[in-house]
Amino acid sequence: MGEILKIRSFSAIIDSMSEKKKRLLTGLQPSGALHIGNYFGTIKPIVDLFTDHEGLLMVADYHALTSVRNPEELRKSIVENAKDYFAAGLNLDNAILFQQSSVPEHAELAWIFDCLVTVSFLELGHAYKDKVAKGLEANAGLFTYPMLMAADILLYDTDIVPVGEDQRQHVEYAREAAAKFNNAYGTTFKEPQELISKTVGVVPGTDGQKMSKSYKNTIPLFATRDEIQKAVMSIVTDSSGDKPEHVYAIHTLYKTDAELTPLYEEKKGKYKDLKEALIEDIDTYIAPMREKRASISDEDVRLVLKEGGEKARTLASAKMAEVRKKVGVTL
Ligand code: ADP
Ligand code: TRP
Repeated sequence: MGEILKIRSFSAIIDSMSEKKKRLLTGLQPSGALHIGNYFGTIKPIVDLFTDHEGLLMVADYHALTSVRNPEELRKSIVENAKDYFAAGLNLDNAILFQQSSVPEHAELAWIFDCLVTVSFLELGHAYKDKVAKGLEANAGLFTYPMLMAADILLYDTDIVPVGEDQRQHVEYAREAAAKFNNAYGTTFKEPQELISKTVGVVPGTDGQKMSKSYKNTIPLFATRDEIQKAVMSIVTDSSGDKPEHVYAIHTLYKTDAELTPLYEEKKGKYKDLKEALIEDIDTYIAPMREKRASISDEDVRLVLKEGGEKARTLASAKMAEVRKKVGVTL
């Protein structure tokens, strides 16, 4: 695999763009237990952004319905994913955390956008084509997915949408939906801008490929010390070099090069010692987050989501009232 890049937070980028006063909105589909690749690649940059920027963070449960058919699994993932954000330090003073399904205006506005865009326009969507190529059912929800995402973004007059590179086209689609609506009915929606963290790299798995739950090469984020030990000890090492490349790449997520260089110099060729140092560093980093996570009840999460849903709905319903009037359904 290519060189492992250092993970840099979105906030460093947004600050350099002087975008402090802008409203952010981002969303993640609820999915199973996180690994350290999800955390350093996505969760941490988002949580860092909300330490000093305001906006909305959405659990995209209706988007998840394009691929999840198990209600128990979905319910569990929504709650567990919200816990992940809290354990990772999400600042609720700045962020409204809510479930997409708590605000039915998202689905309502998506319908209006569906009526403004053409099938051939949606057919250009990379994500749809990629997912169908990977064997996902080509359901109509998957096809119109970008218009639901456009509604998520545009309902809140969002300025900035922090997302991974794979979502860039979806934000372009949102801009297009805004422009189409504004053209047809007069200026109503802001055209949002994507914020792609260029330096977010790929965290390698224990086999050196991209860490991914599909490859079974993960270090689980909220692992116990024993689980961390088991995963780290299984990291593939190449006996031809002094420095175990994959161990080092993962280690750089927890310590700086300046901290690691003397250690890797001193323990040259001693892979077991270096892995033990990595286990210690991962465990030290995760222990407080693990504790925090364990202290959050499902009930706490449901309450925060409920409150967040109410706040989000107040914003969305005001915008939707304007939309209904403009399209001509309010009498
Ligand atoms: P997985 O590959 O384990 O199925 P997902 O596709 O569910 O992970 O990814 C969820 C989020 O985590 C995405 O935004 C993705 O960019 C990020 N992510 C996943 N794996 C990694 C990795 N190895 N390094 C960096 N970011 C990752
Ligand atoms: N489509 C995004 C993903 O799969 C999740 C998402 C849904 C989203 N709605 C959004 C992201 C609105 C940003 C803004 O990762």
